[in-house]
Amino acid sequence: MSESIQELFEQLEFKENPLYEQIIQDILEKKYSIIDGFFNEAEVAILRSQLLKKYEEDNFKKAAIGNKTSEVIERSIRGDFILWINEAEAGIAEKTYFNKINSLIDYLNRTCFMGILAKEFHYAVYPEGTFYKRHLDTFQNDGRRKLSMVCYLNDEDWKPENGGELAIYTQENGEEDQINIFPFPGRVVIFESQELEHEVKPVKVPRLSITGWLKTR
Ligand code: OGA
Ligand code: NI
Repeated sequence: MSESIQELFEQLEFKENPLYEQIIQDILEKKYSIIDGFFNEAEVAILRSQLLKKYEEDNFKKAAIGNKTSEVIERSIRGDFILWINEAEAGIAEKTYFNKINSLIDYLNRTCFMGILAKEFHYAVYPEGTFYKRHLDTFQNDGRRKLSMVCYLNDEDWKPENGGELAIYTQENGEEDQINIFPFPGRVVIFESQELEHEVKPVKVPRLSITGWLKTR
C-alpha cells in the first residue's frame, strides 16, 4: 500500500509540466519566452500593493549601473527605482512569488541541468518619463546571470499607449529584429541574460515590476 503511494508521488514529481516545457522550448528556440498569466490577478494585486506600500515608505533607491564596487547613478541610461527582496524575510505575497519561482528553478535544474544555484530579485518602479536604454544584463554584476526574469505588476487596465514596452533585440542570420513586449499585469518574460540586448521604452504612467536573475555558480 505505502509502496504504491510512493510510486504515485514519484510519477507526479516527474510528470511533465506543459507550461514549463513551453518555456524551455521557447528559450531553446529563440532565447526568450513570454508567459501570460504566470501570476493570476489576485497574486498580482497583492504583490502590487506590497510594492506600493514599500515605495510609499521610501524604501526604494535609484537604480545604479556598473558593478557592485563602482555603482553609478546615471539617469540618462536608466531612471527606475528598485528595492531588493530578501527571500528569508518575505511576507505572504512574496512567499507565493518565490514558491512559483522555486518550482520553475527545480524543474529547469531537473529536466535541463541548468545548474541554477542562486537567484536575486528586486521590485522596480519606473516613474513617468523614465526608461532604461539598450543594454545586456551581464555588465551589472558578474557573468553568473543566466536567465533574466521580469514580472509585471501594473493595473489590470494598463494600456499600450502607456509606453514602457520591453524591447528585445534578436539576431537571425546577421539580421536584427526587435520584439516589443507590453508590460501587462501577470505577464512574465524570461530571456537569456548573456545573449539578448534589450531596453525599456519611456513610460507615460508609473510602471511596476519585479525583475530578477537566475544565476549559475
Ligand atoms: C533590467 C531590465 C526590463 C523590464 O532591469 O535590467 O532590463 O521590462 N528590465 O523591466
Ligand atoms: Ni535588463
